[in-house]
Amino acid sequence: RIVFLNGSFLPIEEARVPFMDRGFLFGDGVYEGIGVLDGRLVDNEAHLERLERSLAEVRIPNPYSPAEWTALEEEIVRRNGMTEGFIYFQVTRGVAERDFFFPEDAKPTVAMFTQAKTIADAPAARTGIAVVTVPDLRWARRDVKSINLLAQVLAKQAAKEAGAQEAWMVEDGYVTEGGSSSAFIVTTGGSIVVRPLSQAILPGITRKSLLRLSQEDGIPLEERRFTVEEAHGAAEAFLTSASNFVLPVVSIDGRPVGEGKPGPITRRLRELYLQMAR
Ligand code: PDD
Repeated sequence: RIVFLNGSFLPIEEARVPFMDRGFLFGDGVYEGIGVLDGRLVDNEAHLERLERSLAEVRIPNPYSPAEWTALEEEIVRRNGMTEGFIYFQVTRGVAERDFFFPEDAKPTVAMFTQAKTIADAPAARTGIAVVTVPDLRWARRDVKSINLLAQVLAKQAAKEAGAQEAWMVEDGYVTEGGSSSAFIVTTGGSIVVRPLSQAILPGITRKSLLRLSQEDGIPLEERRFTVEEAHGAAEAFLTSASNFVLPVVSIDGRPVGEGKPGPITRRLRELYLQMAR
């Protein structure tokens, strides 16, 4: 397996990050994750725009232009012979003696790897998944794709221990988003409901594409917050992320959603997304 670290492609066993990297010590960095289908990058431009924004918000210089990032992504996909899966990359503030203040002369650490994964024909897309709701314990700038994921690690582990595959995080009674995905419900009237963008959630790239596709398809959209109770009573539910595209949610907190199987609007949206990605 070949990874990219600070300008070089090398076997993962040889990739070493210094002990004093601020990503390791402070979680001082941001990341991106991009889906790959049929060897092609899905929604790459939008992901690189979000990276640019995350870096600017935490004041880490972007080490590469969009064209340079794209060349690195394409090369790592090619070197690993990956046709379907996920590209992960992160930028940290770099290596310096431990001190909270920004280092004067550190260079950002850039790391990238791929994970081969079946997305289009994933069994979970046919069966749907279970989610459980948990309190949202994250910081106040969730619109920044920070590598600090402790709250999500705890949320998703709690979901796993409850027999579910994803956690839906809840604040003030309203669902914010999934541990690593955007959360959607479909009302009994057939409208998609999704939380509006704010600092409370990550601006999901798959969410954005899906909303465009649903509008083009004439599916009614309500961009507003929804409560846990409304989710429990929804006709359908689903999540979106770069690593899963659109995944049906068939149970929430142990209760079946609708008929407890992937619903027609969810299946239609997944189909539209796959068509777009291909
Ligand atoms: N997670 N919300 C959160 C908290 C996320 O971590 C993610 C992505 C999303 C979906 O965003 P997008 O559609 O741009 O992937 C929403 C990635 C896949 C991860 O951490 O693995």
